[in-house]
Amino acid sequence: NAIYAAGLRGVLPGVPVDAATLEARAEAAMPPHVLNYVQGGCGDEHTQDENVAAFRHWGMVPRMMVDCTSRDLSIELFGHTYPSPIFMSPIGVTGICTQDGHGDLAAARVSAATGVPMMVSTLANDPMEDVATALGDTPGFFQLYTPKNKELAESLVSRAEKAGYKAIVVTLDTWVTGWRPRDLNAGNFPQLRGAVLANYFTDPVFRSLLAKPPEEDPATAITTWAATFGKVLTWDDLDWLKSITSLPIVLKGICHPDDARRAADHGADAIYCSNHGGRQANGGIAAIDMLSDVVDVAGATPVLFDSGVRSGSDVVKALALGATAVGVGRPFVYGLALDGADGAAHVLKCILAEADLLMAVNGYPTIADVRAAGAVRQQA
Ligand code: FNR
Repeated sequence: NAIYAAGLRGVLPGVPVDAATLEARAEAAMPPHVLNYVQGGCGDEHTQDENVAAFRHWGMVPRMMVDCTSRDLSIELFGHTYPSPIFMSPIGVTGICTQDGHGDLAAARVSAATGVPMMVSTLANDPMEDVATALGDTPGFFQLYTPKNKELAESLVSRAEKAGYKAIVVTLDTWVTGWRPRDLNAGNFPQLRGAVLANYFTDPVFRSLLAKPPEEDPATAITTWAATFGKVLTWDDLDWLKSITSLPIVLKGICHPDDARRAADHGADAIYCSNHGGRQANGGIAAIDMLSDVVDVAGATPVLFDSGVRSGSDVVKALALGATAVGVGRPFVYGLALDGADGAAHVLKCILAEADLLMAVNGYPTIADVRAAGAVRQQA
């Protein structure tokens, strides 16, 4: 309503309302190494392009004569009711996307203001405790890149629990970084040079591995981080992870239905269907094309989804295919880059406004109605 009303008064939005214009504006505004980091993906970026394109072959069929004058977009997850079905996907090193270097604190303010939860990355530039304070009353989640050093992993998880995060989102697909030509051509991850990986740099176990504190010798801190990064997880590790925390465990990166079944059988508290936005493996099929297969075998285990979500209609389609909640990744980072917390909040509000309006026009007053309506795969 506010976005429409402003338009009627002739007030133009500072940050575009649609993904294509938003990305074009971000391309013009962001420094090349930052844009490459956010926009780039693996190989020739076929998978990340497919993630977006594949939404087009899923369609919804509207229902008429349904009273949709009010809609309820709220969802339940881990015992909490969220006002809307979207969340901010975990994004590392967002500090380089903002003027003041505090992208995670900015995202946390967005979360506090909108009720859209965020997943704080292990590779955040702000310490998770500071982010938790900025989240206010909106519960947040901590995303774990499991370090090789188990003691360090346990320290990160216990800090997250103490800081009040409501779940641990374990990313499974990133124990090594994928083949990302844009970053490699620019000199191997320039975004990490001089970065403050605050969750590591403030961690007592991590600090005990260093001869000098990161504040005095950041270069060695970064190489030590790289040396400890990335344990290959197997199903036995899920038992270990469950033993070190009482928080729900979410497994991020699951696209194969057999893995989803195994995750549910192994007691994962949620399955997160995602291919990391095509940043880890090229040559894969679009994540949205795997979603309903994952949902079918997940049973009562909630399924979160991201990869390729660019609009409100994408959100509604993912919900129709059975997602419990839908993650927005790159678009909110473009919003952050263009106008800090205000820009990111605007992007999320536009996506939600479109989803709400679509539910109204399509005759789906609640998320349960969206799910009951489903989405149809159209032939190419
Ligand atoms: C990511 N992603 C990611 N995932 C994760 O588990 N931990 C992380 O630190 C990051 N970092 C990160 C940085 C950047 C710049 C991007 C774009 C993505 C993956 C992210 O959570 C999500 O899966 C993708 O962003 C989904 O793809 P789209 O929809 O953004 O294209």
